[in-house]
Amino acid sequence: MNVFPLAAVIGHPIAHSLSPRMHRYWLSRLGIAGDYTAMDIAPDGLEAALRSLPALGFRGVNLTIPHKLAGLKLADTVTDAARMIGAANTISFADGVIHADNTDGYGFIENLRQGAPSWNSARPALVLGAGGAARAVLYALIEAGVPEIRLANRSPDKTDALAAHFGPRIAPLPWPEAEEAARGAGLLVNTTSLGMTGQPPLIFCLNALPRDAVVTDIVYVPLETPLLSAARVRGNEVVDGLGMLLHQGVPGFERWFGQRPEVTDELRKVVQS
Ligand code: ATR
Repeated sequence: MNVFPLAAVIGHPIAHSLSPRMHRYWLSRLGIAGDYTAMDIAPDGLEAALRSLPALGFRGVNLTIPHKLAGLKLADTVTDAARMIGAANTISFADGVIHADNTDGYGFIENLRQGAPSWNSARPALVLGAGGAARAVLYALIEAGVPEIRLANRSPDKTDALAAHFGPRIAPLPWPEAEEAARGAGLLVNTTSLGMTGQPPLIFCLNALPRDAVVTDIVYVPLETPLLSAARVRGNEVVDGLGMLLHQGVPGFERWFGQRPEVTDELRKVVQS
């Protein structure tokens, strides 16, 4: 086998990805001779890329927009996480096989555990949004044993579809009832794009949310979204979304390069610099 292991993130476009900075930091920190790069590949080139990269020394790739669904379909083997989330973000090549995983749910839960160690998974959670990111969050919360996940989305057909897919622990509710559904929750998660730089803020009254609930946002530009600021001001513990991106990279790095990297404050500074 090739002794200079390579990996990459494939997207279209890809210029703004933070992944190369993160993986290169880990490679250098752990003294591993290898590299991680970014590749801009259009949808019609994905299959050819995945079939040819192993011979060039690539151990695997991360997939980002717009390739996560196509990667799942092209794979020979698929983890339960990727199948349930319905997307692949981490591909490994071994023995001529394309193996697809999804580590977004893992990244979400590890970020939550690191940022809010006192989070109690036995209490209900309230999740806002029902897009691709919500699927990873729901998968992770179910795996973590959360007994009831209240799910609100502007378009109600998506919450019903996710409840049918993920089962009875998902409680879909109409968007106008989301604020009241925060009552008794131990966790509030924003998975919508609201609050991201360039998007409108998420208008969400936190009055019903217990003050000991944890609030987290998958948006990380800005790092402190208006939702997180409002929650912090009233005394809730908050966890920003950058850590989800960092933690989701850990399983792929370990698989491709053979050592388990850590998500540290120094890494957070490096990727933001
Ligand atoms: P991602 O893969 O990041 O989850 P997505 O699949 O496009 O992205 O999902 C975006 C989420 O933000 C959806 O839940 C979307 O709600 P709809 O399903 O109703 O479109 C939500 N969202 C985006 N803009 C919104 C807005 N102005 N108000 C409420 N929800 C919004």
